[in-house]
Amino acid sequence: MLKDKHIIVGVTGGIAAYKVVDVVSRLKKLNANVEVIMTKNATKFVTPLTFQTLSLNPVYVGLFDEPKHYDVEHISLAERADMFLIAPATANVIGKVANGIADDLLTTTIMATRSKVVFAPAMNTNMYTNPIVQKNMEYLKELGYEFIDPGTGMLACQTYGPGRMSEPKEIVDYILDNFTNKKLSGKKIVVTAGPTMEPIDPVRYITNHSSGKMGYSIAKEANNRGADVVLITGPTNLEPPSRVKVVRVNTTREMFNAVEEYFSTCDVLIKAAAPLDYRPERVQEEKIKKDSVGMDELDIKFIRNPDIAAHFGKIKENRIIVGFAAETNNLIQYGKEKLYKKNLDFIVANDISKEGAGFKTDTNIVTIIDKEGNIEDYPILDKSQVAQIVLDKVYTLLNTKS
Ligand code: PMT
Repeated sequence: MLKDKHIIVGVTGGIAAYKVVDVVSRLKKLNANVEVIMTKNATKFVTPLTFQTLSLNPVYVGLFDEPKHYDVEHISLAERADMFLIAPATANVIGKVANGIADDLLTTTIMATRSKVVFAPAMNTNMYTNPIVQKNMEYLKELGYEFIDPGTGMLACQTYGPGRMSEPKEIVDYILDNFTNKKLSGKKIVVTAGPTMEPIDPVRYITNHSSGKMGYSIAKEANNRGADVVLITGPTNLEPPSRVKVVRVNTTREMFNAVEEYFSTCDVLIKAAAPLDYRPERVQEEKIKKDSVGMDELDIKFIRNPDIAAHFGKIKENRIIVGFAAETNNLIQYGKEKLYKKNLDFIVANDISKEGAGFKTDTNIVTIIDKEGNIEDYPILDKSQVAQIVLDKVYTLLNTKS
């Protein structure tokens, strides 16, 4: 996702430097080209070798070190940056940049770059709240420098308060956000994800194999594209994307209610969840004892749950509703039936019996069918790529409807 993007990471001398190791690793996994500049103090916390090994690039420390290439290093680094991240950003580096001091390779390069510069501050609470530091940050913001605000929590100095550097995932999401298109900004998108579960008694429940990966990928991508996203999720083990409103539900009826709450104000509803179609007619208040129901058989009567997509399909007006269809055979035929029956704009059908498709995997193999009868088959793709395709289609539809 960050292919061809050149990100310079400036590491300064704070304990949070250890977290930046994870930031660099995550950026590399997204195919960014990462180069690291460390201050001398930063090398006391993490070795240049660590960053060199992860970034697969030489690490720069001193202004007058033996050059890695035969050009003026701070100028060439500054010029090839698509983005400059300073993490952790100490009070010292913020103060230097705010006051035009360029006395080492990092601050000289920051001074010379025309790329976006983003600081991820990390420092003791008293330092962070010090009016001098606050004033320096305000001034830099006025000049267009950006800040990923630190979190509040227990700091390395054993005090509690603001100053803890943002988590690596949030920092990387911020960077991703910068490079992805914002075509869905101003749109409100509700995404459902994961399974639902229906209780049988206080101990037992039924559910299905949905992990939530497909829906979470869509929520993340929609948010990256600037949409205001509500993720309504059944029980999953996934970490929700940052900056997305998360509504957690268990049963299909709870999912229905949550969709109802956000439907009237949304532009798009994407139903990637796998809600249970049936629930036990009666939830036993006490644990079902083997002795009370007989040793060999247990009869449970199931009744229908509401069909969320079909219900909101009937009252959708100008909204776009996208459905998914999990099938094991007759993909196109069943997909089409659901598309029309639920009044969807298009349906993403996946044959869950195929290797690399459907539940739990990081990939999916989908066929998209729209109301005009167009059918598009896609090869095996990461769920994040499927999310991009789905949102490209949503964007086109939003434009045709407006
Ligand atoms: O979560 P993962 O592990 O990543 O797996 C992804 C997935 C296989 C769950 C996903 O790609 C998928 O196919 N989701 C839809 C699963 C499903 O419930 O399919 P269905 O054919 O039963 O339902 C068709 C559509 O109606 C779906 O959009 C579904 O969300 C919706 N539905 C179904 C039942 C119900 N009671 N209410 C609904 O709104």
